[in-house]
Amino acid sequence: MKKRIAVLLSGRGSNFEALAESVASGRIPNAEMALVVSNREGAPGIEKARERGIPARVIPSKGLERETYDRQVVAALEEAGINLVCLAGFMRLLSPYFVERFRGRILNIHPSLLPAFPGLEAHRQEIEHGVKFAGCTVHFVDENLDAGPIILQAVVPVLDDDTPETLAARVLAEEHRIYSEAVRIVLEGRYRIEGRRVLLEPPKN
Ligand code: GAR
Repeated sequence: MKKRIAVLLSGRGSNFEALAESVASGRIPNAEMALVVSNREGAPGIEKARERGIPARVIPSKGLERETYDRQVVAALEEAGINLVCLAGFMRLLSPYFVERFRGRILNIHPSLLPAFPGLEAHRQEIEHGVKFAGCTVHFVDENLDAGPIILQAVVPVLDDDTPETLAARVLAEEHRIYSEAVRIVLEGRYRIEGRRVLLEPPKN
């Protein structure tokens, strides 16, 4: 049985597209992109999903309490028989209810080398702080913001003439690469968790 992936997003959807490409090309084998959910009307990622013929739903979050909203999303994920939930620019903290229902089966991509620069505007903060290296992180999601066990990270240099935009573009290319790699590792069960550490195992073939 193919593993069924859902992507949750709020905007552009480039990480969703990278994952969808990896599923289509077999870089993420034995998987199906089964559902895309946006909490915002008009998120470009939803249109991109529909163009690819992937089921896509807007479930608006505006004005709803966190758990009330999350119950709607969890119901949609369960109805679609989802095995793995990938947050990709989904700009919401998940409730304990959501995390518990999909414990160990929710991933997030964040555009910094966590635990440095969690939250919003990581690239601007990195440049202002003067760090020489930036990057991105794929991690398991827990109840805290950008906090769960780290699966993969990638590093990029920060150049003297970088703006938040130029740095973001350099990081984004790495996001697209490591998110697919992390999804493959998790779907193949090639890891074990010891405390906060995700220890990776080599491919089985
Ligand atoms: C990505 O850079 C992702 O890492 C970031 O939002 C962007 C979404 O782009 N996520 C966060 O900041 C989450 N804290 P995309 O919609 O093109 O994938």
